[in-house]
Amino acid sequence: MLLDRSFRRTLIARLLLSAGPSTAAALLVAAPGCGGENEAAADTRCFDWDDELGACLSREQALEEFRTIHPLCASEEEIVSVESDATPRDGACCYEVIAEPAGPCAVGRPFSLEGQRRTAAPQPAEAGWLARGKDAGLGGRQPSLGDLTDEERETLAEGWLRSALEEHASVASFARFALDLMALGAPSSLVEAAHIAALDEVGHARVGFSLASAYRGEPVGPAALPMPRGVPVAADLVALARAAAEEGCIGETVAALLAAEQRARAEDPAVRAALEAIADDEARHAELAWLTVAWAIGAGGEPVRGAVADVFEAAALSLRRPRPAEAGPPRGRAAALAAHGHLGGSTLRELSCAALAQVVLPCARALGLWSPGDLDSTRAPGVS
Ligand SMILES: [Fe+2]
Ligand SMILES: [Fe+2]
Repeated sequence: MLLDRSFRRTLIARLLLSAGPSTAAALLVAAPGCGGENEAAADTRCFDWDDELGACLSREQALEEFRTIHPLCASEEEIVSVESDATPRDGACCYEVIAEPAGPCAVGRPFSLEGQRRTAAPQPAEAGWLARGKDAGLGGRQPSLGDLTDEERETLAEGWLRSALEEHASVASFARFALDLMALGAPSSLVEAAHIAALDEVGHARVGFSLASAYRGEPVGPAALPMPRGVPVAADLVALARAAAEEGCIGETVAALLAAEQRARAEDPAVRAALEAIADDEARHAELAWLTVAWAIGAGGEPVRGAVADVFEAAALSLRRPRPAEAGPPRGRAAALAAHGHLGGSTLRELSCAALAQVVLPCARALGLWSPGDLDSTRAPGVS
């Protein structure tokens, strides 16, 4: 799936200019494509496998492989156990598995504690998180509901609510990021940008809750964000840079590209105005992440660079994993939803995967943080 060419090229140039020397070649880099679709039956899942890699993976190794698909372009299911040894089949290793539905694909900067993403619960109340006034992000308009069916309105309300809760959590994520920067001696430009980004996320959350409320027909907002009394800050530059690479260089870059794609397909004026602003802001947040990584590597040297390179290498490796095919909504319904900024889960995953391959990895490569050659040397032969 191809991303909007103009936005993609502009974003790559911005990221490279902000984090290091820009090279025209970087814009032309061919990153690895996304993994192929899995053609297996419902409870059989396969990996593409080359004889040169050795025998197929053991059950335990296969489960690990299934779980290392990058969450941004993973499927809507989670493999919870592998029930059989491998059966070689047409250049693939296939296993009987038990799969369960996975949670929705989260995009943007998450608020994570102890490896768990946290968001507030929704509550059916105004809660002080609705956009107000002409400059509140919807261009002074409300979405038009006239041609939507009840089912479409419900889907839009759920989609915008999920996005609003993630934006709401991003406010806390940037607040903690600002503390991380202070604790590790970052320059004022980064600290300032982190605070501005937190305020941007307040705006995105307000827009999301406002749109969700409009489609729902009643106000909805966030309950308190669950967090412990003492929220830890990053232990060192390695931890800071690793999180910035995962959550910002990958998460925010993908978020910017997704918002641009949503905007390109949206027709409702209020929704377009909201997505226009969000795409711009997310692009700045992505720049901040790449700048942060560049600063951290300059300050911390090789250990930091190595940690960041590991993040990109893992993302690149994950793109080679096969992903099960997913059915989207009927074509007419998908278009009606897209006109209001909603893209289905399978489309979002395809776009996220494309964003990794077409923007994130080329930028990492241009900055010397990842090389396609790393892939082959990191993949150990499997043992059955
Ligand atoms: Fe955001
Ligand atoms: Fe953001």
